Amino acid sequence: MRNRLHFNISTFEIDEKQKLFNEIDKECLSIGYYNLPEQNIDNILEFVNSFDESVENIVVLGIGGSSLGAKAVYEFLKPVKKPWRKLYFFESTDPLNIMEILSKIELDKSHFLVISKSGTTVETISIFKYLYAKESRATRYTFITDKESPLDKFATKIGSKVFYLPKNVGGRFSVLSVVGLLPLALCGVNISELLKGAKSVKESFFNDGYLKESLLNKAMFYAKYHTTYNINCLFAYSETLRYFSEWYVQLWGESLGKKQCNSAFHVGVTPIGLIGPKDQHSFLQLIVEGTRDKSVTFIKIDDFQNELTIPNITLPYLESLDILNGITFHDLITMQSDSVIEALKAQGDIPLDEIIIERVDERSIGQLIYYYELLTSLVGKLINVNTYNQPGVESGKIILKNKLQKRSKNDK
Ligand code: PA5
Repeated sequence: MRNRLHFNISTFEIDEKQKLFNEIDKECLSIGYYNLPEQNIDNILEFVNSFDESVENIVVLGIGGSSLGAKAVYEFLKPVKKPWRKLYFFESTDPLNIMEILSKIELDKSHFLVISKSGTTVETISIFKYLYAKESRATRYTFITDKESPLDKFATKIGSKVFYLPKNVGGRFSVLSVVGLLPLALCGVNISELLKGAKSVKESFFNDGYLKESLLNKAMFYAKYHTTYNINCLFAYSETLRYFSEWYVQLWGESLGKKQCNSAFHVGVTPIGLIGPKDQHSFLQLIVEGTRDKSVTFIKIDDFQNELTIPNITLPYLESLDILNGITFHDLITMQSDSVIEALKAQGDIPLDEIIIERVDERSIGQLIYYYELLTSLVGKLINVNTYNQPGVESGKIILKNKLQKRSKNDK
């Protein structure tokens, strides 16, 4: 993984950077996600090795941090790695979506992973209730939750297998814990490689490696100019990264959009997930000519390991496009992203950077995940927010529960 910054970082003092680094280094003692790359995964691998071979579908019931990470990794790898089993996600209370997913899975060939850190999330539990009324065999379910949560107590009562989230790992930082690893491993993803990728970024950052400077500089730039460049666009040049973009939007949005600690100011950098080349034909115009309030990160894949080529044919009236003849799609998409980068650089006032991952494999996505988690923590520290809570989301949940309580009382 490489990261090239195309903006001016000369104003950052060395001691400011060292101070930021020290603060993050200290956080490793209290925030659990930092240490996930070194966790012991024997219990997950044992479970996977003894898993019922007749199960064809792994069905996750979860939302937000309990589903988006696994989905990002699964969808990234799907085009190149034939999954052992299909992975489905019930994430929405949209009845049409519930019915649609149900129509795709045979209950008898499915295993359900009910994932909720709190164990009380309305979306997850409402869908679970619906499914449990249809299929109540405890062996069909595995639960992932916090120890002693209401869901843990329920699962233990019915005799289902329960995995616990490690201590101090928040929902949106949990993809590299059992929350993401279990569903992925059950579908054949090499989770050791995923963690190795994350570990390489961790070591690079914490042991003076190649990513330390770029991560610190980038975070300091975003924080220093967060009121000017208050939008961060992630422009990923591969359809495989579509759900990674969703994961990034949640990670960035829920972690950084906050009231500052000990202040009344509301801050944040709005995340936008874009996919190239599709969004060259939509959002790009806004970046090039619109308000100068956006920074852009391009993600490129160095080697698609695919030689699909545009054939050498001439079509009447389309002769001018013979310039495409004989080019691999891999080269074409890379030339497209490079051309957009060049065009944006020429504007001179749009902060840009490029992340280049090697290929579509577990190691690369593990690197990307850990890189973004670190970047989020760094920016959060600098803009002075509590990166790991989500009071804004909680307040809506409380209002909903009150409404439901009132309704249930009135019905009685
Ligand atoms: O990142 C977070 O903390 C949230 O997005 C949660 O993951 C989401 O609200 C789901 O919560 P839970 O896992 O408790 O069901």
